[in-house]
Amino acid sequence: MLRTLHSIPGLIAALLLALVALTGSVLSVFPALEAAQSRDAGMVDVATLAGRVSARVPGVETLVRQPSGTIVAYHMVGQDQRASIIDPASGTAVAAYRSSAVQRWVKNLHRKLMLDDAGRVAVGVAAACMLFIVIVGLLLLARRMGGWKQLFGFVRGNTLQRLHNETARVVFLALALSAATGALMSLATFGLIPEGGSEDPFLDARPSSTAAIPLASMPALQAVNVSRLRQLKLATPGDPTDVIELETADGTGAIDPATGEWLSYSALDGWQTLQATVRLLHTGDGLWWLGLVLGAASLTVPLLGVTGTLLWWRRRRALPRLSGNASAQDADTVLLVGSEGNATWGFAVALHDALTRAGLRVHTAPMNDIAARYRSARRLLVLTATYGDGEAPESARLFLDRLARTAIPPGTAFGVLGFGDRQFPRFCGYAHTVHEAMSAKGLVALRQPGEVDRQSEPEFLQWCEWLGQTLGVALDIRYAPVLPRTTTLTLVSRTDYGTDAQTLTAVLRFAPAAPAKKSPLRRNKALPAFETGDLLGVVPPGGGAPRYYSLASAASDGVVEICVRRHPHGICSGYLTALQPGATIQAFVRPHESFRPAPGPAPVILVGAGTGIGPLIGFIRHNPPQRPMHLYFGARNAEDGFLYQEELQGLVGDRRLRSLTTAFSRSTNKAYVQDRLLADTARLRELVAQGAQILVCGGRKMAEGVADAWERILADSGLTVARLRTAGRYVEDVY
Ligand SMILES: Cc1cc2nc3c(=O)[nH]c(=O)nc-3n(C[C@H](O)[C@H](O)[C@H](O)COP(=O)(O)O)c2cc1C
Repeated sequence: MLRTLHSIPGLIAALLLALVALTGSVLSVFPALEAAQSRDAGMVDVATLAGRVSARVPGVETLVRQPSGTIVAYHMVGQDQRASIIDPASGTAVAAYRSSAVQRWVKNLHRKLMLDDAGRVAVGVAAACMLFIVIVGLLLLARRMGGWKQLFGFVRGNTLQRLHNETARVVFLALALSAATGALMSLATFGLIPEGGSEDPFLDARPSSTAAIPLASMPALQAVNVSRLRQLKLATPGDPTDVIELETADGTGAIDPATGEWLSYSALDGWQTLQATVRLLHTGDGLWWLGLVLGAASLTVPLLGVTGTLLWWRRRRALPRLSGNASAQDADTVLLVGSEGNATWGFAVALHDALTRAGLRVHTAPMNDIAARYRSARRLLVLTATYGDGEAPESARLFLDRLARTAIPPGTAFGVLGFGDRQFPRFCGYAHTVHEAMSAKGLVALRQPGEVDRQSEPEFLQWCEWLGQTLGVALDIRYAPVLPRTTTLTLVSRTDYGTDAQTLTAVLRFAPAAPAKKSPLRRNKALPAFETGDLLGVVPPGGGAPRYYSLASAASDGVVEICVRRHPHGICSGYLTALQPGATIQAFVRPHESFRPAPGPAPVILVGAGTGIGPLIGFIRHNPPQRPMHLYFGARNAEDGFLYQEELQGLVGDRRLRSLTTAFSRSTNKAYVQDRLLADTARLRELVAQGAQILVCGGRKMAEGVADAWERILADSGLTVARLRTAGRYVEDVY
């Protein structure tokens, strides 16, 4: 719901918002330019300034102080009225004053789209829309990050999500201020908020005599500093009824030309002060630096619009189509799905279809759509992902509240399957929360919640097998992850390590397909740009689920490089390690943006074992020598397990790698990487204190051992592995 509230107005108003924001950015530059050109009037009072100008500029009628501080005199030359910029120090006219035509044109576009009231209304509505989108967007972001406290923490997700969210949280305050003040100015334009200033101070003001004293000696003008002046309208010489009108930042009044004293004065009331403040905060007129900040923030509106639209489109495109979905009241089996990125829906559809084929009446829906009651349900099944820090995904945000109000007969059975990622401290945390809430409601758990790590198909199938047995039905699960189109890659070279043919490790280098030509016969798609650490999905011959290998190269290297260890019964690893140069494979790239060195100069500590060196060597190759990068590498023995040995030594030589520490578990000096880490505790604590990021790649057991070692290294430092993970400073690529 919150997401719909954020995206639908955003999509509708995107173009208008972009136009208003960009013209606002252009306008924000003018107050700064004017402030830079204006001559400082210093602490001069209005009487002194008016005295100087009237002595130097004949026929002066009005003095205006622009918000930038520039003093402009309107004066008669013959029959013509002229406007001149005044040097406040001498009172002389230094240049003709002309307002910029460009500024007027952009202002017209910004305020009313070159139209009249219709344009003003559209711009006012756009400002209100913008305010709404910004506020809802902020609520969404806080929820996604796992609460307000984490609002400025490390943003997870793909490049598009990060670009949108990281930009939004930097500019939200400025955008909210621009939008709120813009909406208020529109309301004021249409008289929907009071103007204030009900009394007219000039109505009954009459001079006490016809003789006028010099402006410079008028007490009322002497009491006002030029910095507070808005406008001074002098009395027409020879008109015995005319008074001096003075408008300041604090109020307006009439001054007697004969005495120089106030005849009447009306201070700004609350509404007038509010409008002046709103104007100041919106335009930056008189506060040029604020104008520039707001203008710069407005420049991001088109970016937020485009990235937001792309995110919305991706989510929509990925939504599943369910066939034969029973109604909530007819269903004997209710399948509720908690998802944000839609991967869980792929599993849910497979389960829905299998249960339906097995003869059950299945109703599948997002968790948020849990019904107020289920008349025929015998069991509830929940498949849910986890976000934030153990929080609900988007389609389950309202679930716990609604569950409390739903009428489900106690004793109804339920089962929960969590989808998550073991790299997060609260693995499948939300699935566990849901399990507890359902138990507390008196439903009967069929078993403890199941867990699926990184969309593992075997783990999902295992849970389905258990479910089929429990329900007494044969479940024919036909789960097919939607794979991107594959590319043909040709093996160009290989380097083998190890003498045992059953466990040899090979570094394989493939040539990426040439960019697709515009021939309709050419079906093969060129690989998209990829970075070291992204995953190469390889489809083994005969099809089946793809296997993923971390890339040791980036697209800019012109080669697709992976490290593969042959597993005794591995279908894909056996296939790959048997390839000879010239052979081809079908593959695609899956981005893995979370596993990369963070930008910036902070040190990087790489920890890997076996083929886990793959992405790490790529990071080192692309590391600028000034950034400290340290590698801890483990293998069984140096003879046939020290992958990239020569190249690594070369990288130490040219300082792209500052230190190389190895551990061999089957050598005489037996050790694991975690032993080497512990031995270097003092140095590692120092690096972490400098803001180091830790990247770990390899098998699960090694990663667990390494995480334990880091807990010990960090003990009493105020940091933990979990805290580093949350900050994006401890990332794993584990298999
Ligand atoms: C921003 C973000 C936060 C996540 N937080 C967690 C978490 O706290 N615990 C967990 O086990 N998995 C977490 N995950 C992993 C997802 O739950 C997992 O990738 C899941 O399969 C996504 O399913 P979906 O595509 O249906 O939303 C997170 C993923 C992202 C992108």
